[in-house]
This record gives sequence, structure tokens and C-alpha cells, in this order.
Amino acid sequence: MEIEERDGMPVRLSMAQADDWHLHVRDGAMLAAVLPDTIQRFRRAIIMPNLHPPVTTVAAARAYRGRILACVPPGAHFTPLMTLYLTAATTVADIEEAAASGLITAVKYYPAGQTTNSDQGVADLRRCDAVLAALERHDMPLLVHGEVVDADVDVFAREELFVARVLAPLLADFPRLRVVMEHITTASAAAFVSAGPPRLAATITAHHMLLNRNALFEGGIRPHHYCRPLLQKEEDRRALVAAATSGHPRFFLGTDSAPHTRSTKESACGCAGIYTAHAALELYAEIFAEAGALARLEGFASHFGADFYRLPRNTGTVCLERCASAVPQTVSFGTQPGVPFRAGMNLQWRLAGTRT
Ligand code: DOR
Ligand code: ZN
Repeated sequence: MEIEERDGMPVRLSMAQADDWHLHVRDGAMLAAVLPDTIQRFRRAIIMPNLHPPVTTVAAARAYRGRILACVPPGAHFTPLMTLYLTAATTVADIEEAAASGLITAVKYYPAGQTTNSDQGVADLRRCDAVLAALERHDMPLLVHGEVVDADVDVFAREELFVARVLAPLLADFPRLRVVMEHITTASAAAFVSAGPPRLAATITAHHMLLNRNALFEGGIRPHHYCRPLLQKEEDRRALVAAATSGHPRFFLGTDSAPHTRSTKESACGCAGIYTAHAALELYAEIFAEAGALARLEGFASHFGADFYRLPRNTGTVCLERCASAVPQTVSFGTQPGVPFRAGMNLQWRLAGTRT
């Protein structure tokens, strides 16, 4: 990695091409509209399976992968890494087929009813023990959305309780299962992963490191800052920045960029999800520069995820430069507009090119 400074300030960096280890790209016109933002910035991405209906079979994942690849322009290099959506109906045979196919990178657990298209998720993960054992046998990672499903638990406490009630026993009972705790939001989750075994990792979004929960209510309700799991307290935000910038190899980049049209966000019952794909690397660069840890961005964005997934590190490079650039008020999400993160405001860094 190379960092150029002017007057003691980093102004330009080049590093190994990055990957996004947690991404929603949807389907159809929205897929075609949002995918270019990711292709510009990342070489690979873990594609979330929460379509409607969800991607529950190898055949569905193969077809979805084909639709994604059809949106990759000739000459561009982008590899979608496919996942299956765990349901109560997922069988051991499904996992065996997934492992044999060579097409499925991981299986995603959604706690039923907690977020976008999670109604077919699983209420009690431990009803899936046979499937979990199959994942362990085939060394296929389980990606978890870490929130307990109980409606009587405070919505800001659901991640912390998930770690104690679900994740810790899961790791104990399946001693070789590899788990990624997705989009962690709390100091306690960061501490748990940091102290955990090498087979446990976590992704961290840019928005959870840039905002705390006050941003949900700044001057009124802010639907474009609503995501799940929720933004948390300032001390949690700081703990996430500390974890990401620590150089610990089991924290890595996952944007959880999740496009929803403006009208579905600005609604009496708005959808969960924040769109950051248009500025993903720029935002992480801002966070790392602010923390005085730019030299550790490459590990977090380009090395550690590949290492955990046992994939080769990328050989191309990506360059970013410090330069204010404005984010538009809206972008096209296909047939309708969407509101990107930082709409109408500035980014501090901009993309200055990639070399594959
Ligand atoms: O905020 C979120 N949006 N969290 C999720 O887990 C899903 C995602 C989406 O698909 O919109
Ligand atoms: Zn997600």
C-alpha cells in the first residue's frame, strides 16, 4: 500500500483492490441501476440472498448469478459470490448440493421478521442443527444477522442478547463451524469477536462507524438512516472504529449497502436499509484517515476478508484521493429514485481509478 502525504496530511492512496463481504444488489431494473457503483469499487462481493422470494436453492443462486453477470459490462472484472438463504425448510441435502456445486460461498441466517425480506427466515436457529452440522462438515461459513427475534426485547438490545443467547452457544456446540457476524453494531459484539476463535469474524459497515443513533432523530425522524441492526450509541460507534482500524484480521469490510426506493423509505412504515455503494470505499477511507489509521485500510478492505474466506487476495490496485465531491440528492434505482447516503453533502475522498 502507498500513501502520499502533503503537509503531513494523506492526500492519495493506492492499495490492493478491495472486496465487499456483505452486499444487497436486488434484482431486475434495480440490480442494473445499482451494480455499477459496486463494480467501480470492488473486485468481488458477497451477494445477499434476501430477494423476494429468497434465494434458497443452488438453481436459484445460479440463475441470480447469471442475472448479475449480465449487468457486468464487457471488460469489467467483478465476481459475485453467491449465498443461500436459510429457511426452516433447508435440508442437509441442500447444503451437500451447495458444497458440491462450487457455486455457493456461504449460507445466510436471517432472524425471522427482523429486517427486509426476512419473513422466511428462521425464528429458532437451533431447529436447524442438522443443517448447521452439514455446514460445519463442508466448511461452509454461516453468515449471521445477529438480532434476537423476541418482540419483547428492546430493539436496541437485540444484538447484545443475540451474542449471549445464540452466538456463544452456537460456537460452543459446533466447534469447527465458521461464522461471520454481519454488520456488527455494538462494543460488546466487537469485543466478543475480537476475543473469539479464528473461525469467527465480523463485517463492519461504514454507516455504523460514521453515525450513532442520534442520527435517526436529527431535527425529525430520518428514514434514510434506518437500517437493521440499528445504529447504536456513540460509545458503540467508537468501538467499531477501533475494531476496524485495529489491524485485527477478523474484522473486514462489508457495506450492507441496501437500496430501497425513496417512496418505500419515506413512508409510515419505512424499509430498513442504507445505500452506500456509490461511496463505499470513499467513506471507509474517510473513517480510517480520521482515525489516523489509513495504513490499515488495505488489510480491512482488501486482505482480511479474502483470507477468512480462503480466497486469493486481489492482485489489482485501487487509488483514492482526498478531494471533496458532492453526493447527489437522489440517484436512479431503476424505475424509481433512491436517496443515497450523504445525499446533498460532500465526501472527503474520491475514487481515482483501478488497475486489474
Ligand atoms: O438494514 C438492512 N437492510 N438490514 C438488513 O439486514 C437487510 C437490508 C436490506 O435488505 O434492505
Ligand atoms: Zn444486509
